[in-house]
Amino acid sequence: MDLRAFIDLLTKENLLRRLDREVDWKYEIGEIARNHQTPLLFENIKDYPGQRLFTNGMSSLESMGLALGLGRETRRSRIVKEAKHRAAIPIEPQVVNSGPVCENVVLGDEIDLLKFPVPLWSQHETGRYIGTWHINVTRDPETGLRNIGVYRMEVKGPNQASLCTSPKSHLGQHFIKAEKSGSPLEMAVAIGVSEAVVVAAGAGCPYGVDEYGLAGSLQQEAVRLVKCSTVNLEVPADSEIVIEGIIRPGIRVQDGPYFDYAGAPDTSSAFLFEAKRLMFRNRPIFRGTAIGFPGAEDQQIFSILAALGLFDFHGSWHKRMIQSPLIQWRLFRAFQFAGRVKGRSLLNRNKQGG
Ligand SMILES: Cc1cc2nc3c(=O)[nH]c(=O)nc-3n(C[C@H](O)[C@H](O)[C@H](O)COP(=O)(O)O)c2cc1C
Repeated sequence: MDLRAFIDLLTKENLLRRLDREVDWKYEIGEIARNHQTPLLFENIKDYPGQRLFTNGMSSLESMGLALGLGRETRRSRIVKEAKHRAAIPIEPQVVNSGPVCENVVLGDEIDLLKFPVPLWSQHETGRYIGTWHINVTRDPETGLRNIGVYRMEVKGPNQASLCTSPKSHLGQHFIKAEKSGSPLEMAVAIGVSEAVVVAAGAGCPYGVDEYGLAGSLQQEAVRLVKCSTVNLEVPADSEIVIEGIIRPGIRVQDGPYFDYAGAPDTSSAFLFEAKRLMFRNRPIFRGTAIGFPGAEDQQIFSILAALGLFDFHGSWHKRMIQSPLIQWRLFRAFQFAGRVKGRSLLNRNKQGG
């Protein structure tokens, strides 16, 4: 079920709220998303005539049940049980020759990431985050093994964005290896993919596991992939938007202030991504999410992942011991509080990521 089929399903089930009055990408979209924890489709965005933005697809158990092909009345315990059962048997992705995302292509200097209605999600932030509910695809430069993850990205220029993660994350490890040999790391970013793909990318699987297989099992259908042109990577064929490019070695930029999962404005050191090629569907639907409040979309899926034993946050033991049970039992405020305490503690020597 691609994003458009999911939106159709939410419409049929009367769970989608469409906003056709003009809304501002600056603060207003984020504010509405935080105040209405229901799936939202913005159809009239200031400065972006004809463009659309979808958010809050996984903001409730009802929509989560639908995204996984279960009924909207499915109880949380059943969602967890079914997801556990499915996750045990990966369904490998299939490479296809073409897909809807190949409908439009923009190259090099012609790229302007702000041609899409990228919101300024919160008044606590100064930058526009193009990557909040998306996937980052990379390969281990030594083994060639593929990884997908979700790591936030802030627009830094027409074809540049920062990427914020810990050196312990799988992408962080890929980049460190590339940097050691003085090479850039190839990366593809896919925005507007099926919700199961984002859930799988947010999962803490062991190093070397390709989460496309987990995504296939969660949605009970192989993810169909197309090959990128300028990087040796594959992305979902039905993505709304794909950005191909490289992370340059030896460069760090500031990410944030960003209103992070713990509900505090955070600034970190980040990698710099340079876009080389863009693909997008006709009339693309931008997908993003407002983070930082109790019960936000990221916390909804972390709660399910924790119940599956797939909530990781890059190997931090105190997160596993303290935050994992809190999020599993949907104690969102306590989960955020624990995240903020950690932010001030000596344990958090590494200020990057998460
Ligand atoms: C919506 C969302 C946003 C996230 N943002 C970040 C982020 O900015 N940086 C980060 O390091 N991890 C972030 N995560 C957590 C990672 O995606 C998660 O730890 C995942 O396991 C990373 O993949 P990896 O285990 O392959 O490294 C986010 C997760 C979600 C669902």
